Amino acid sequence: MTNKITSLADYLQKYKESVADPEGFWANIAESHYWRKKWDQVLDWRFEGKDAPHVKWFINGKLNITENIFERNMFMRKDQVALIWEPNDPKEKEVRLTYGELFDKVKQFANGLLKIGVKKGDRVAIYLPMIPELPVAMLACARIGAIHSIVFAGFSASSLADRIIDASSNVVITTDGAYRGAKSIPLKSVVDEALKTCPTVKNTIVFKHTGEEINFDARHDIWWHDLIKGVSTENTAEEMDAEDILFILYTSGSTGKPKGVVHTIGGYMVFAEYTFKNVFQYDDGDIFWCTADIGWVTGHTYIVYGPLLTGATSVMFEGVPTWPDAGRFWDVVDKYKVSQFYTAPTAIRALVGHGDEWVTKHDLSSIKVLGTVGEPINEEAWRWYHDIVGKGTRPIVDTWWQTETGGIMITPLAGIIPTKPSYATLPLPGIQPILVDQEGNELKGNSVQGILCIKFPWPGMIRTTYGDHKRCYETYFSLYKGLYLTGDGAKRDEEGYYRISGRIDDVINVSGHRIGTAEVEDAINQHPRVNESAVVGYPHPIKGSGIYAYVICDELSDEERDGIEDQIRETVSKYIGPIAKPDLIQIVSGLPKTRSGKIMRRILRKIGEGDATNLGDTSTLLDPGIVEEIISGAKVEVKR
Ligand code: PRX
Repeated sequence: MTNKITSLADYLQKYKESVADPEGFWANIAESHYWRKKWDQVLDWRFEGKDAPHVKWFINGKLNITENIFERNMFMRKDQVALIWEPNDPKEKEVRLTYGELFDKVKQFANGLLKIGVKKGDRVAIYLPMIPELPVAMLACARIGAIHSIVFAGFSASSLADRIIDASSNVVITTDGAYRGAKSIPLKSVVDEALKTCPTVKNTIVFKHTGEEINFDARHDIWWHDLIKGVSTENTAEEMDAEDILFILYTSGSTGKPKGVVHTIGGYMVFAEYTFKNVFQYDDGDIFWCTADIGWVTGHTYIVYGPLLTGATSVMFEGVPTWPDAGRFWDVVDKYKVSQFYTAPTAIRALVGHGDEWVTKHDLSSIKVLGTVGEPINEEAWRWYHDIVGKGTRPIVDTWWQTETGGIMITPLAGIIPTKPSYATLPLPGIQPILVDQEGNELKGNSVQGILCIKFPWPGMIRTTYGDHKRCYETYFSLYKGLYLTGDGAKRDEEGYYRISGRIDDVINVSGHRIGTAEVEDAINQHPRVNESAVVGYPHPIKGSGIYAYVICDELSDEERDGIEDQIRETVSKYIGPIAKPDLIQIVSGLPKTRSGKIMRRILRKIGEGDATNLGDTSTLLDPGIVEEIISGAKVEVKR
């Protein structure tokens, strides 16, 4: 396969070249793609100044990403399996789609979208569970030049509505219902609820999956099977500009509502394929399995685009790791002879607790590479993954990246860069990380710790936040001029290896999902008896971080007090989704505020960590007594 790094020496050489001549480096990689018209200029960029950030790759290049997945691969791979779908229920039959079959489905659904008037540039909201129709819908959008905005099917009606409104989507694609382990979730009714506040939506396309009753309104609801009935599988891809938008994906930050991270076609395509084949060292014939949900960026890039661009066989799984039992992941690995297995530390930590025998009773000899993503992996979980799952011999790629980066940035290359527990190790060629101190001064050399930024653009990077370019600048480029701010802290050790320590802002990484504290506070405050709240992360053995909410309520009767915590959790679930429910809720009479009214979250975080020995200067607080009250009522054991 072209553009594949083959040894450590090769990596070091490529890295050097990529820094000396980034444009030449990426242009060379992009040459292997199919462009209807080649670019005039590789890159134009500024992180500062007029309209910043201004980042354009492969300027005036014309292409369609689906032609790079299908037409480009068709000659070699028409009958090769592209997607394997493992259903929630292991008793149900899996689905295998070859490149030829998937292509036909994509073209037919693309024609279906055209039939109801979806056009190039329209934003299509996709609210689907992990079924093959999800990649079909994404790729059909890309085929006709529509922009997909996938919303994780665990988000609530209100979160879905926010995303539909922000992107002014005119079509929503969903199912009647979704399975999740032993449960089923009525997705269509969530969409119905959301659409009460979304006037831009003209049609909802519904795929029949669980067969449950739904409220079907023939004025705007369309069954997927009716939409494609008799529709041709012939379709010519729309010609797109390299910098046209491929997708919007919403993600949480420190402040306000989630932002729509915008990725454009050419750069994202080049980056997704390059990172996929190099990080996982994918070889022809391998079976790749990423356990993420396509509703998150990991699924976008490493279930769909990266593997399919490469011509790989990609497994997608509808269910959960612990249903019907804690051996499910390993059943699936064994069943399909998975070669590369990519999951989140939270799943690993959860499985450690169930015992080794769930793993050891399976034949996992097909596994060549293990991967992790989404949050720091603690050394203990890393060792278990390495020793028990990887039999002590399979390399672990601890991949650091973000929704905004489009693909993996810092990681070992499997079998090439020596690993070290809990280290993401080295940047990929083309990626130029830099550590800075609070003031933005570069921390040079090794054995330093600071704030992780990136100093040069890469093709897969965020271009803007949808509908609000200024917010993109403010969030990522304004704090340290000329640098992309990741929001993560990191250490560079004595050998130059990076270890990511986690978020330095008001974002909590819960089971690898980014949750903004402000969003959770807003949701809690919707409860009629709540006056104010402050939310922080705290160490959680499985989730990495849990959510700790300190809440001020109206005067409550004893009876009200009993039910209030559950009600608050339900409120958060209703406004955001079950993933954002606080783990710990402490009702307090006040919050530690400065005289200017600012909540001192540092103190609340320390208490959540169970350590009140070093709270720093509390004399500037409006009411220093409140700290004592919070410590004595804390939901965790606190050392004084
Ligand atoms: O804090 C970092 C953490 O996840 C954040 C990005 O979250 P999201 O945009 O949802 O994307 C997750 C999947 C790419 C980062 O800012 N993170 C991601 N990977 C790692 C990580 N933290 C430590 N080690 C990692 N390998």
